[in-house]
Amino acid sequence: MLLSCFARICSQKLFYVLVRVLPVWMKTTMKTLMLSTGAINSDVSISCIFDDCKDVDKCISLAANSIGLNERPRYKVIKGDPLDWINNTKESFNPVEVAEGLWVVPEGRTPPDLQATNIILNPGFAFGTGEHPTTKLCLLLLCSLVKGGELFLDYGTGSGILAIAAIKFGAAFSVGLDVDPQAIRSAQQNASLNNLGADKLRLHLVPSKRCPTTFGNGETETQKYDVVIANILYYPLLELADHIVSYAKPGAAVGVSGIISEQVQYIVLQYSKLLDGISVTKMDDWALVSGTRKRNSVAS
Ligand SMILES: C[S@@+](CC[C@H](N)C(=O)[O-])C[C@H]1O[C@@H](n2cnc3c(N)ncnc32)[C@H](O)[C@@H]1O
Repeated sequence: MLLSCFARICSQKLFYVLVRVLPVWMKTTMKTLMLSTGAINSDVSISCIFDDCKDVDKCISLAANSIGLNERPRYKVIKGDPLDWINNTKESFNPVEVAEGLWVVPEGRTPPDLQATNIILNPGFAFGTGEHPTTKLCLLLLCSLVKGGELFLDYGTGSGILAIAAIKFGAAFSVGLDVDPQAIRSAQQNASLNNLGADKLRLHLVPSKRCPTTFGNGETETQKYDVVIANILYYPLLELADHIVSYAKPGAAVGVSGIISEQVQYIVLQYSKLLDGISVTKMDDWALVSGTRKRNSVAS
């Protein structure tokens, strides 16, 4: 049983921030779910799904506080079946052309262009269908960086979309990390859908504060990867900057996304200490900051 919570908040900008913040606070296994959005006059409503054991009131209050809302948004709770949500999502998920020759195609659908790079996905409860601007920005960066044979780290893998895409672009190996067991399960399923075994793609459930420096085989993971991308959230991107960059080889490419325009300056400030050649790309109101790891960077 799930609780759907429809909360109405006052502005589009806050909506974007809240949508990204809520799942962190929910700490639920059913997180990162947004059923639908609808603007009514200047109001915007969002829908989130919670396990029925969760304290919805507390989650919404924490999320509202964390983005500086003075009042808790009004909301109503509807009980529902998780399968309804999954089926609704499947029905609304159509093939997405991210760039010419790059499609994200729902499981069971015929790719519109059989010659294209087609990433087959069943998002399940995880984020990353290729429709969101942050995912698109990351995919476009990845496509431009992967020339063949790279090691890629996907920090916050969600559905596994970036880790899978990297291999399809020619990377030798991808590692996907996530704090959410649902995301890891979903990414595993998607790796299979794309015929990628453990020789190509590995997934690890990690703690939220600091990912380990080895992933179980004793091999050191820091300074190992040719490309590192983290599409997570503004605050973890700030807090974990050293840590995220530490996985990249000196001189390797690092991209961070999941931020809105107003947050770019703070992310640039933080990552300028660690990266050279910082650049910012934007799509709608979302941004991606990228650069190459400084050769003498402080990250270990
Ligand atoms: C916005 S989704 C991105 C999914 C996919 N990489 C994409 O680009 O569409 C962010 C994912 O990062 C995970 N995440 C959030 N904080 C994290 C952290 N500190 N360490 C690892 N993963 C994290 C979330 O559980 C979620 O699955």
